[in-house]
Parts: sequence; structure tokens; C-alpha cells
Amino acid sequence: MCGIVGYTGGNPASSILVSGLRRLEYRGYDSAGLATLGENGLELRKRAGRVRVLEEALEANPARGTCGISHTRWATHGPATDANAHPHLGGNARAVAVVHNGVIENYAALRSELTAQGYAFASQTDTEVIAHLIARELGEGDDLYEAVQRSLPYLEGTYGLAVVSPRCPGQVIGARFGSPLVVGLGEDEHLLASDALAIAPHTANVAYLQDGEVVRLTPGKFEIRHQEHGPITPRIDRLDWKPDAVELGGHAHYMLKEIREQPDTVMDACRGRIRRAEGTAIFGGLNMSPRQLRRVRRVVFAACGTSWHAALVGEYLIERLAHLPVEVEYASEFRYRNAPLDDRTLVFVLSQSGETADTLGALREAKRQGHPTLAIVNTVGSTIAREADGGIYLHCGPEVGVASTKAFTAQVTVMTLLALYLGRLRHLSFTDGLAVADALAEVPSALTSVLATEPAIEAAAHRIASARSALFMGRDLHFPVALEGALKLKEISYIHAEGYPTAEMKHGPIALVDSETPCIFVAPRGSLHGKTLGNVEEVKARHGMIISVGTEGDESLASLSDVFLPIPDLPEVVQPLVAVVPLQLLAYHVARIRGCDIDKPRNLAKSVTVE
Ligand code: G6P
Repeated sequence: MCGIVGYTGGNPASSILVSGLRRLEYRGYDSAGLATLGENGLELRKRAGRVRVLEEALEANPARGTCGISHTRWATHGPATDANAHPHLGGNARAVAVVHNGVIENYAALRSELTAQGYAFASQTDTEVIAHLIARELGEGDDLYEAVQRSLPYLEGTYGLAVVSPRCPGQVIGARFGSPLVVGLGEDEHLLASDALAIAPHTANVAYLQDGEVVRLTPGKFEIRHQEHGPITPRIDRLDWKPDAVELGGHAHYMLKEIREQPDTVMDACRGRIRRAEGTAIFGGLNMSPRQLRRVRRVVFAACGTSWHAALVGEYLIERLAHLPVEVEYASEFRYRNAPLDDRTLVFVLSQSGETADTLGALREAKRQGHPTLAIVNTVGSTIAREADGGIYLHCGPEVGVASTKAFTAQVTVMTLLALYLGRLRHLSFTDGLAVADALAEVPSALTSVLATEPAIEAAAHRIASARSALFMGRDLHFPVALEGALKLKEISYIHAEGYPTAEMKHGPIALVDSETPCIFVAPRGSLHGKTLGNVEEVKARHGMIISVGTEGDESLASLSDVFLPIPDLPEVVQPLVAVVPLQLLAYHVARIRGCDIDKPRNLAKSVTVE
């Protein structure tokens, strides 16, 4: 949520900062701004709107200098205006410029105190208090690093900060507490960013900051201090992304690119994790022995958004294959509830970004209670990945589209492997285990054939593009898929959509059925297929518009449907991985037809690092 990029080196900062912001724009896109340190001191440009508006302002009035900070915003305090855009200036003589991710909870009290001391405020943001605090601590001096460190104890809440001052040319100071920051180590240049995506074009060598750490970057050097423990020797990590991982590569949108990557996603999530000879799966990073895992009597998953839906698929799979009770919790609820957990409960959190504030809060709450806590995460080195006792990486590469697609597929793949593993530690037979492994092996080619049906899905999208609301229904493993289909449609096309268990339709949603309301059934052939057909009949009897995702050759479903979207015949346990794809493409094309901004839907952000 919000993007930060800082640079110091030998090249013009402005263009590096702006291209970094473009890469981070998916994290927030209400306004954008930068501050550079040029020969004439601090140059500030900021604008409400997208990064391209800032670029236009810079074309008209370039910002000079080889050192600077920048920000793209997802508004929390105060609307998206030029004045509320970051950077914010501190001191009444433009002594410092600050960009900030996170929320300062005691900002109102600090603002009153600073106002009483004569500091003038130009915005409604919580961030501006940080700028004035640092300016106050800097005084007439020139050690910005020290001034930032002296200011931080006043702050309550979360922050990822980047700070520059004309008194300290060539220096960028960063500080982290609850909002990620990563340093990029180039040759005679250093970068600071809230997400390694902005750094990747410049260097693969990075150092992730931990909470409580403050960094000083100069072109030739960087140093890190922990607020309590003093100087830190940083660990240098390498980004191992494929070179085209964050390029559009000819696709119209990141979402479409990521949908189309899903055959690889499934293969990458399975790679090295299937043991055919034992009919099971293995994981390298769980840090729990089979003996410890066999003692587990209950699994709790905590997650948000699409990750929560993937966890729900996991619930059905683990109950089916391992007969273990599973509960799926919204992380935001779990962290503040007093949910009873006994010592045989295993807590998992799921997060694509590894930075979602509520999910991190749930992890910390479970850890505080002394439970072993595992994480299923995509972003290597993210806070959740680091704080969990063990976990499983998704290995699906950076996901840029705000509407999550390939991360869902990767999460469901991992859930299938996990259910297989936990099942094989219990009573699942070798033959049944092997059948699951073999079913997973069929998925990539099945996905490729579903992707080839995109023109038919696009035609279906034309039929529903002017709908005001849509119902998505599925039973059993496909109920979470229906929820995910509804979420995709509402996120990017702004059509109201609800997901329901198919049979639950009779208990309310059927009141909404009319010829204008698309009813989308996720109904591949399976154990409850006959019952689903009965529910489809009920909608047809009320003249509902029926779109179904079903097994190719299923004439009984096709003949009831206005639009039939086929998927290959697959074993039930892997059907969710394939059935979700027509729904992703449907949402994509509806949004495109409606002229929506697909990769940057209104009001949303890719990574929600505030509560
Ligand atoms: C935001 C995103 C969703 C995502 C959710 C959880 O709301 O817009 O696409 O599913 O956060 O994110 P996470 O990174 O924890 O999976």
C-alpha cells in the first residue's frame, strides 16, 4: 500500500524515481510526488492522480539532482489532492522532505504539539507530523541520520519512511516499523524502495530492513542501525526473478499476463514437491517433523481477500484427504478475537504479498500465544515469511495486477499438496495419494486448453457487461471458486456480485433472479452434480440468465445454460484450479468492455499494509 522509491548515485534521480514509481503504482495510485536535491536545493513536485500526471509536471518543470525520494499514494488521512500528496516538507524553511507508508496513530496529538511550537501544516495527512518532527530534531545541524533516529520514538503506529534534506546532499535516510523497505545495492549508487519490484531493473542485490532499523544511503555506502541494538551487519539477498517477470511482454494488462501464466504457476508450485514413489508431497521449509505434524488435531487458516478464498479450498481438501478439522478465519477478525486454540492446533497464514497488515497481525497473535505458526507466502523475504516459524513459498513470481489470479492458483496448488501430505501422514492410502499427485500433473495442460477458449469467454462477457449484479454459485470445492469469481468481477468491473453455495440460493439470493441477472454456476462433473443440475433448473424456471462452467461434453448442463464454458474432465480434487480460470477471464473481459482500469481498480491496492 503506497509505494516508496529513493535514489542516490551518479545519475539523474528524477527519471529513476519515476520509473520506479511506475512499477509500484499498483500499490496505490491516488497521487504521486518526488523531491530531489539539486544545485538549487530541494525541488518538490507532486500531483493528485496517476504517476503520468506527475511525469507531465516534470516535463514542464524538471527536477534536477542525483539524489531524491518519491511516493505513490493510497489515501488514508485526507483525500487525494496535490497538498496531501507526498513528499511532505518539514520545518518552516523546507529543511526536510519525507515520504511515508503506514499510519501514525498519535498524529493528532503530535500535530497540536507541533502547531503550538510554531510549525505550519499544509496538508491533512498524518505524515506531515513526521516531517516536522525530523526538522525539529535536525535543528540547525546537519546529521539527518541522527535526527531521524531521535524522531522515531515519538511515533505510534506503522511506518516505512524515506527522508532527504538539503543540509545533507547525497543522503537518503530510510526507517522501517511495520511497513516494508528494501535497499538496492548498485555500483556507486543505492536505492531504497517499499518493494523490490522498483529495484529489480537496477540491481539484483538487496538488503531487507527489519522493524526498528534505520538506514543511511550515500552513493558509495550504506549503513544500518537498529533503534535499540545499534549497528547491524546486513544480510544481502539476491532477487532471482526471471528477467521478464515484471514486464507486460505484449499482453494488454498484467492481469491478463498473469492469468495466462497459470500453467507455469502450477508447475512451479509443484516443482520438487511431489514424491511419486511414496505417493505423497514434501516441503522443505515447514520446520516441523512428520511426528510433530501427526500430533496436529486441528488446522486454522487466517488470510484476507483472495488468499482467504484459497484457504477455503484448502479446508475442503484437507478435510477430504486428511480428515483433519479446518477453520478458515478472516485475519482481521482472528487477530482480535479470543479464538480458543489448543496445543494441537496448527496455525497457517496465507498471503501473496507477505505484508498484509491484518494477516501479519494474526500471525503475531498466534505466535504470542505460543502456537507453531506457518505461512504460505509468495514474496520471498517479506515480513510474514520472515516472522513465521516455517512455511511454503508459492514461487509464482511477482504478481502486479491488483486483482490476484496466479497467486490464487499457486495457493490452491500448495493447498492440494498440503492436503496430500497431511493425508499421507494419516490414513490416505498410497494409491489414493498417487492419484492426487497424478491429477495435479494433468492440470497445466488442462489450463492451457481452457486459456484457448478465451474468445468464447469474451463473447460471454459481452452478454453480461451491462448487468447491474451477478450471482456466482458452486458446491463443495467449487463454493470458494464461486466466491473468488464474484470477487474478481466486483473488484475490476464494479458490478455487484455475490458468491453462494449453490443450494443456499433458495434461501435468499433466488429473490434476485431475473432475466437481467447473470447466474454463474461452477459445476464441473462430480459427486454432487445431479443436485447442482436441479438448482440450475430452478433458476431456469425463473428465466434467469445461466452461464455455467462445466465439464466438456456435459450435455445436460450445456442444454440448460445460455452460455456453457467447458473445462477438461479432471478428478474433483484439482477441478478448482481449472474452473477458476474462465471466471478470471470473464471478469477481465467484462471490465475491459466497460472501460475499467483493470490493473488499477478504483479504491483498491495490491498490498494492504494498514489495518
Ligand atoms: C488486497 C488485494 C487482494 C488480496 C488481499 C490479500 O485486498 O487487493 O487482491 O487478495 O489484499 O493480500 P495478500 O497479499 O495477503 O494475499
